Amino acid sequence: MRKLRTIDLFCGSGAVMWGQQLAGMDPIYGVDRDHEALDTTRAAGFAAAYCDLQHGPSLLALLMPFRGSVDVLSASPPCQGWSGLGKKKRASDRREAAGICVTAAVTVGARWLVIENVMGLASSLYGQRLMEDARDKMGWATWWNLDAADYGVAQHRRRCFLVAGPHELVQPATCPMVNVRDVLPDIGAPAIRQEQVTAVSRSVSRPSPTVNTRGTIYTHPEVGVRRNKGDRVAGRRLTWQELALLQSFPPDYPFRGKTQGANHRLVGNAVPPILAAHVFRRIVRDHEEKSRDSS
Ligand SMILES: C[S@@+](CC[C@H](N)C(=O)[O-])C[C@H]1O[C@@H](n2cnc3c(N)ncnc32)[C@H](O)[C@@H]1O
Repeated sequence: MRKLRTIDLFCGSGAVMWGQQLAGMDPIYGVDRDHEALDTTRAAGFAAAYCDLQHGPSLLALLMPFRGSVDVLSASPPCQGWSGLGKKKRASDRREAAGICVTAAVTVGARWLVIENVMGLASSLYGQRLMEDARDKMGWATWWNLDAADYGVAQHRRRCFLVAGPHELVQPATCPMVNVRDVLPDIGAPAIRQEQVTAVSRSVSRPSPTVNTRGTIYTHPEVGVRRNKGDRVAGRRLTWQELALLQSFPPDYPFRGKTQGANHRLVGNAVPPILAAHVFRRIVRDHEEKSRDSS
C-alpha cells in the first residue's frame, strides 16, 4: 500500500516527521528558519529547507512544486502568542502563523491538515475560527486536546491538535503511563521538579513536568517539597540528553545544536515523537481501512 506523503511546516528538529515515520507515513519535506534545527532534521534523514515563513519568500511559491503530491500537511507554528509563559499577545502576536497553515494545506492539495499548538489556541475565539475555516475548506475539522503522558510519553505535556480532513476521525485511544524512572533508570534521585518558586518536587515514579526550552528540570532528594524563595536549589539540572528521552526521542537522535543551550532549545521546542506517532497513526489507520474497503 502506498505510504501517505507529508510536508511539515515549522519542522524544528524533525520530531513530528520522526513520529510520522513511526506511524508509517513518508515525510518528504520540512521547513523551518532555525539552522541548527534544520541540520538536526537532515541528520535524522529528512529533506528540509530554510524559509522564514512569515517574512521570507512566499510560502505558497515554496510549496507549489509539491502540489498534488502531498496527502498530509502538518505544522507546529510558534506558540508564544498563546502560551501561558509568553506575553499572551494572542492573534496579534507577530509570530502567530497558524492561519497560513490552512492556506498551505489547500495550496498543496493535502487531504489532511494537522496543526499542533498549546491549549490556549484551541480555547480561544481565534482558534474556533481557525477550526471553522479548516472545516469549510477541507470538509471536517476538530480540536483534539491531548496530554503526552496519556500516550506513552514520560512527561505531562498538554497540547492541542487541529485535525482537519475529508471526514471525521476519532481521537487516539490512550495507553498505559510511562514514568520518569522507566526512561531514566539511573536518575539517582526519588524526585524531580521544575525550577520555579512554587514548584513541588514530584516522584520519578510519575511522568515529569513539561520539558521547556530552558531545560529547567532538576533532580530533588525529597518527594513533595515546595521550594521557598531564596532556598538553595538542591539536586542537579537534567541534561538535554535526559530531557530528550523524557520527550520520547530515541537515545541516538542526532541533535546538531552548536551549544548545550541550543540543544535545550531544540529538545524543549519539540512535539514528543511518540505523541505525534499516535496522532498520525489515526490517519494511517483510516487510509488503510479505506484502501481495504475499495479493493
Ligand atoms: C514549536 S517549534 C516546532 C518544533 C517542531 N515541530 C518539532 O517537533 O521539533 C516552532 C518552530 O517554528 C520555527 N519558526 C518560528 N518562526 C518561524 C518563521 N517565521 N519561519 C520559519 N520557522 C519559524 C522555530 O524555529 C521552531 O523550530
